[in-house]
Amino acid sequence: MSFKTLSYALNFLPPEVLHSLFIKFLQTRLYNKKPKFKNLKTTAFGKEINNPLGLAAGFDKNAEVIQGALQLGFGFLELGTVTPMPQVGNPKPRVFKIPEFNAVIQRLGFNNKGAEEFLRNLISSRKDDNTLGINIGKNKNSTDNFKDYCFLYEKLQPYSDYITINISSPNTPGLRDIQEKGNIEKLLQKISKIKKRKPTLLKLSPDISNRNLENICKIILRNDLINGLICTNTTISRDNLLQKPVKNSWKLHEKGGLSGPPLRYKANELIKKVYEFTEGKITIIGVGGVSNGKDAFEKISLGASLIQLYTSLIFKGPGVVFKILKELSLGLERNDLGSVNDLVGRNISYD
Ligand SMILES: Cc1cc2nc3c(=O)[nH]c(=O)nc-3n(C[C@H](O)[C@H](O)[C@H](O)COP(=O)(O)O)c2cc1C
Repeated sequence: MSFKTLSYALNFLPPEVLHSLFIKFLQTRLYNKKPKFKNLKTTAFGKEINNPLGLAAGFDKNAEVIQGALQLGFGFLELGTVTPMPQVGNPKPRVFKIPEFNAVIQRLGFNNKGAEEFLRNLISSRKDDNTLGINIGKNKNSTDNFKDYCFLYEKLQPYSDYITINISSPNTPGLRDIQEKGNIEKLLQKISKIKKRKPTLLKLSPDISNRNLENICKIILRNDLINGLICTNTTISRDNLLQKPVKNSWKLHEKGGLSGPPLRYKANELIKKVYEFTEGKITIIGVGGVSNGKDAFEKISLGASLIQLYTSLIFKGPGVVFKILKELSLGLERNDLGSVNDLVGRNISYD
């Protein structure tokens, strides 16, 4: 059976069942693609990596499929979001595929097995040469947000190459308010008290206001606490879903974060702004709607030095990673660029 036929058949399964099957498949480690494109080799968080494409947070929430996910060809992985205590997340159904746009709307709400199990999984399967970020979040019913972040940071940083502080998921009430002027300063002050720190990134919402974005960029430039920004998490906007009719249009009105191609433009706008505000001085990880080499090229050209994806894996399957890398590598060659770094912030088009 071809992958196309198989994926057509699998599409009839509820998205979360499909996700569990995908995780089980990767745990078998039968799929092993190690793409080697010389011009894609780059560095991230002090380590050499094979390519700048990473797996975005949310796919491996419990660190249970590290080696299998790396075998898809990713240069690095971001695990989590993990919270201190296990939590079940929002009631099902909570993930909705919009096939007309290759997009997803979901309100999972940080369903995960908690920090203890995450750490056990991580320690038993990570290898020293893996490049792994850990994305941390707060429990829904936590009364002290900042305590959750500090607890997770201290517990997990020894096993990570970087830590992402997730202040942008739309599915945990109040979480995105931490991006606001006044709140972000309080969080960062607590983080600054942690003695041993790893490269630390903030993951932002594409719906952030210009005022809050500028404030965050200014803070980052003023001290060396935060090393980079991840642009972006999912959006609560549905504006880009209005261009064509959708079969089950009720899904568009479901609460949650939208990901995939309709998010791409908004996420790219944020990369552009951050690159300008910070004059290219910080690491930007570009994520949102990457499904081919051109999308990856575009984000790097706007200022991202690393990129991530999630939703295109759902619609296009494991082969999408190799395809993106091949197309990105060709795009660099065509533009006479020797490496990914030569493209960062150059503002040139793929074709
Ligand atoms: C099913 C699903 C679950 C996600 N869970 C998380 C999460 O736990 N933490 C997080 O920071 N982002 C999460 N995200 C957001 C992705 O990491 C990414 O920022 C977003 O989907 C945009 O990238 P994409 O268009 O390539 O999917 C999730 C996305 C999806 C589709």
